[in-house]
Amino acid sequence: MARGLEPAASAAAARSARWPGGAVVYEIYPRSFQDGDGDGIGDLPGIRSRLPYLEWLGVDAIWLAPIYASPLADYGYDVSDHRAIAPEYGTDRDFDLLVADAHDRGIRVVLDLVVSHTSIEHPWFRERPDFYVWADGPEPPNNWLASFGGPAWSPDPVSGRLYLHSFYPEQPDLDWRNPEVRAAMAGVVRHWVGRGVDGFRIDAVDRMVKDAGLRDDPPAEAPFPLPMPEELRKLDLIHSRDSPEIALALATLREAAGDVPLIGEVYLPVARILPYLEYLDAAFAFDLLHADWDAEHLAAAIERSSAAGGVAWVTSNHDFPRVATRWGEENTRAAAVLLLTLGDTAFLYQGEELGMVDGGPADPPRDRFGRDGCRRPMQWDGSHAGGFTAGDPWLAPVDPESRNADSEAADEGSVLNLFRRLIELRREIDGAPVRVSSPANTLVFDRGRHRVAINLGDGPATVALPEGATVVLETAAGAARAVTDGVEIDGHAAVVTRIG
Ligand code: NOJ
Repeated sequence: MARGLEPAASAAAARSARWPGGAVVYEIYPRSFQDGDGDGIGDLPGIRSRLPYLEWLGVDAIWLAPIYASPLADYGYDVSDHRAIAPEYGTDRDFDLLVADAHDRGIRVVLDLVVSHTSIEHPWFRERPDFYVWADGPEPPNNWLASFGGPAWSPDPVSGRLYLHSFYPEQPDLDWRNPEVRAAMAGVVRHWVGRGVDGFRIDAVDRMVKDAGLRDDPPAEAPFPLPMPEELRKLDLIHSRDSPEIALALATLREAAGDVPLIGEVYLPVARILPYLEYLDAAFAFDLLHADWDAEHLAAAIERSSAAGGVAWVTSNHDFPRVATRWGEENTRAAAVLLLTLGDTAFLYQGEELGMVDGGPADPPRDRFGRDGCRRPMQWDGSHAGGFTAGDPWLAPVDPESRNADSEAADEGSVLNLFRRLIELRREIDGAPVRVSSPANTLVFDRGRHRVAINLGDGPATVALPEGATVVLETAAGAARAVTDGVEIDGHAAVVTRIG
């Protein structure tokens, strides 16, 4: 679909003007986006073939989740060669063609920098054991837990020692205190900048360096405010992550990247990300992603995040249930308005623009941590495999017959066309969001001349408007009506209004 559709008029020039501030970055999970060769796995030529769609949608940049050589214990977040493209995704030439074509269309390319850990099959693990963090066994030196459950220490049968891993045992943590690790990773960054990359999303930033004394994490007085396995919530994760020495690691990456933007995945409440922003251009606002669909919760998350200055807004990604599944299908349109009217960089996960829902886990599961549901393939058309592949998809699509890009592009009233209009409209909206008092179950904020009003309730709600304000966008035709001094908005709907 949309191949051949003309992009929005303002397109390339408007896009190149802002980077990353205000940009819409579209997250591509390469394995599930578009297969180009019929092997059932998405790839770089597939992504390239869909650039016309992304240009039509109006995104400023694409973030590619890891495309490097990997044994796939964590689907690419276990890298065995940071400079090599995974053969199932394509060749160096495919990468260069993708970057060149994206640039021609005014779309920037952001790579995932997975530098906190490597694959256990990375040659370094055997050739350079000093690049990793070790302890003598047989008992672990502390109570640290891996994010995917179980102890963060595993025995290495070869050396008889224990190695540290913040995630799966197949992902040993690097020792960023080692200057040679820092130099090696700086080289990786320079390599990709030299290949034309425009930015990096840095994985697991808060895990890059841990407490030098390997002290136990003390028991938690209050549960960690973001979702994580129960056993981790019992601990106050102050020594196994978030060390002040992460600054040393980030300074290295910053220097290597020059002025190429760095966006950090810092899995901490936003109140704790400030020190990271000294080196990063932005960090994801996970407080918003994990807020309940409730006006007060959302408003509080937005206020905390805006106060940090430098967040990237995100409401879904390849790790968590999709918006429609988490916040409810009835709220997908209003959630789109929220994500795209907050200002600052916004990350949009593939398929969200179609209102996609999660599938169940694959049988047998592909991801051991239960994330198959949000990684189901893009639904391009209504065919059995959703136009994702001509072969057998590595994960089955959820419901291409009832939701797909082709039919939504042709339908002016679709979720897809709402996203497109929002992306175009956001270019006109300036100023920080300032909350305006409004009836219960509504969230209303001003940004300069624009007022955004979201009705989270089931029934209609009336929101006051400044004099002269008119509706410039509504989540569906007829979802809002002018009334005396304001606008009446249907339940689960939202509007953007403008004065003048
Ligand atoms: C965060 C990534 O988004 C996730 O998919 C991955 O499993 C972990 N970091 C470990 O790399």
